[in-house]
Amino acid sequence: MRHLTSLLEVTAEEIGEILDLASSLKTAAVGGDRPSRLGGRVLTQIFEKPSLRTRASFDAAMAQLGGSSQFFSADDAGLGGRESVEDVARVISGYSDVLVLRTFSQQTIERFAELSSCPVINALSDDRHPCQALTDLLTIRETFGDLAARRLVFVGDGNNVAKSLAIACGRVGLSMTLSAPDGYEFDNEFLELLAVAVPDADLVVETDPMAAVAEADVIYTDVWASMGQESEKSERESAFAGHQVNARLMAAAPETCRFMHDLPARRGLEVTDEVIDGPQSVVFTQAENRMHLAKGLLLWLLGE
Ligand code: CP
Ligand code: NVA
Repeated sequence: MRHLTSLLEVTAEEIGEILDLASSLKTAAVGGDRPSRLGGRVLTQIFEKPSLRTRASFDAAMAQLGGSSQFFSADDAGLGGRESVEDVARVISGYSDVLVLRTFSQQTIERFAELSSCPVINALSDDRHPCQALTDLLTIRETFGDLAARRLVFVGDGNNVAKSLAIACGRVGLSMTLSAPDGYEFDNEFLELLAVAVPDADLVVETDPMAAVAEADVIYTDVWASMGQESEKSERESAFAGHQVNARLMAAAPETCRFMHDLPARRGLEVTDEVIDGPQSVVFTQAENRMHLAKGLLLWLLGE
């Protein structure tokens, strides 16, 4: 039985399989074909944090595949309060064919994976967002036709989204630059993990965003304060002020460069309206692709 707790455990070939499944399901769905490949299966989501895209796209994906889904907030599930994480994992997996978890701690998801009788998918933790990174590869592949010899420049916080992108890019041979203010780069623990798990990753660190984007195929950003960091909001807004993705920064990149954001966006902070709504933005295709990727991932984990 496989889980998706982090992309560190997924090979380049397996990523290719998931993306291919997602692409073919997308083509079929656009043509009106929604094969009931997971009829009778049950997906259970338990979330400790808010969500629009992840929760809705997994519900829609499961419905399109002929299965059903149920959702619990962490409070409703009693996760770590009314019952131990371990007891919830053993009980809920007995009613489910796949679990989709959004938590603060990455360890909670890993503990579920140890005890669950069905596959566990990480739907975001403080440290990882693998479903987003897989979707981003799908979107980049659709946009450019391939993933080879491209450079993604992440302008912003070295957070969960950036870390999963670094693993994903390294796996498939996509170069990545991180342009973060001092103190917000990847931590050493993550860099050591990446060096061991993805030794060929081409990861460049360039603090100056104007220099970083000079050869960008994709400029990507995310919120400056992630869920759980609300108390650091104003401190982070000062620290990241020079890392806003605006028309001036886009103009420093090649004209063919595209803009991506996992959303939700804080318009006027990490990105301006003119960029997110502009002709180089692919953010709403990227958001739609969350559902197609979820379908591919579910079939990859559960399909016969
Ligand atoms: N990108 C993303 O994961 O969005 P949600 O937080 O709305 O699920
Ligand atoms: N880095 C953001 C991603 C939201 C999808 C967060 O963790 O809040």
